[in-house]
Amino acid sequence: MINPVLAEMAAYPFVRLEEERQRLLAAGVEVIDFGKGDPNEPTDPMIREALVDALPERAPYPLAQGLPELRDATAGWLERRFGVSIDPDTEIVPTYGSKEAIFSLAQVLDVGGQVVAFGEPAYPVYERGALFARAEVRTLPLRRESGFLPDLDELDDDVALIWVNYPHNPTGAVAPLEFYEELAEAAERHNFVIASDEAYTELWFDAPPPSALQAVDRSRVVAFHTLSKRSSMTGYRSGFVAGPPEIVAALKAYRPTVGTAPQEFVQRASVVAWNDERHVAETRARYRAKRDVLIPAIEAHGWEIVASDATMYLWVVGPDPNELLERGIIVSPGEMFGPSGEGYVRFALVPTLEECERAATIIGELT
Ligand SMILES: Cc1ncc(COP(=O)(O)O)c(C=O)c1O
Repeated sequence: MINPVLAEMAAYPFVRLEEERQRLLAAGVEVIDFGKGDPNEPTDPMIREALVDALPERAPYPLAQGLPELRDATAGWLERRFGVSIDPDTEIVPTYGSKEAIFSLAQVLDVGGQVVAFGEPAYPVYERGALFARAEVRTLPLRRESGFLPDLDELDDDVALIWVNYPHNPTGAVAPLEFYEELAEAAERHNFVIASDEAYTELWFDAPPPSALQAVDRSRVVAFHTLSKRSSMTGYRSGFVAGPPEIVAALKAYRPTVGTAPQEFVQRASVVAWNDERHVAETRARYRAKRDVLIPAIEAHGWEIVASDATMYLWVVGPDPNELLERGIIVSPGEMFGPSGEGYVRFALVPTLEECERAATIIGELT
């Protein structure tokens, strides 16, 4: 009765962490949750006010292409941030955050029976979208010695689609622009689509990371952006896809079947968010403050922080997640993101600064 692809899937990894959290809370433990990457940062008042002001008496179905104001705002942001010129009418489509759009891409492209490749450890949705589209999955191990970048020699004519995600969840690794240039050349050679999940490009601490859209040949690049992490708006569900007109047109044709675009009041609040950088700089400063508290504690304990140059994550070698759990600290075991994550844990810097300070003290007390 149930689709076997779904029936064979393990529980979404974070369901298990939530169960642990509930168990600890029931036992009266004070929990500090570095598990799921859902920002606890407040959404800027300016954005919330824009949402309230946009709430109409009646909200009609939004159209799949979204409001022109939103498409213009996102194209303007891409131009300012990455220096790329994208046509808001033919190369952009708004999405409900990026998760559903990531899942949908494999349903829209002709990937059935062909290979969808992605690095691992990884965000789980690339694989799930590929499996539901009856594609063959090829995982490319992401290793420390290669900067957590995939080996492009593993790609061949069987590949229809590759997913890349930099800055990377869970490792926090950043890809240089040369990587995207090489990937675009490989895509040209083997005729595959590059899907670049860029959810974390705005959470950086050193230099702003590039976008795959900056590759000289972006004719096969589909980039996924979201306000979830940039503007701490996970619950609003607002993002967009930028890509070649043919693929964007296919998404616009597909989306009315499964949904459309975010509610128009969310779209209007999103316009305000994309047009402002002040609140994004403040968000980065808050994550930086948490890093400044936790990094010394982790290193003083003798654990090693690897990559972690951007994103809200610290990728750490050494901790035993169960030992931390006993002290009320929840982290994600690295293997949750794929076999190459073994030996690592991921700290998502979502607890408050005070909680991070408390966690630093607890780590300092571990023997
Ligand atoms: C790598 C990556 N991509 C995409 C997403 C999706 O975020 P959203 O659907 O909220 O835009 C997440 C969320 O955690 C993520 O970690």
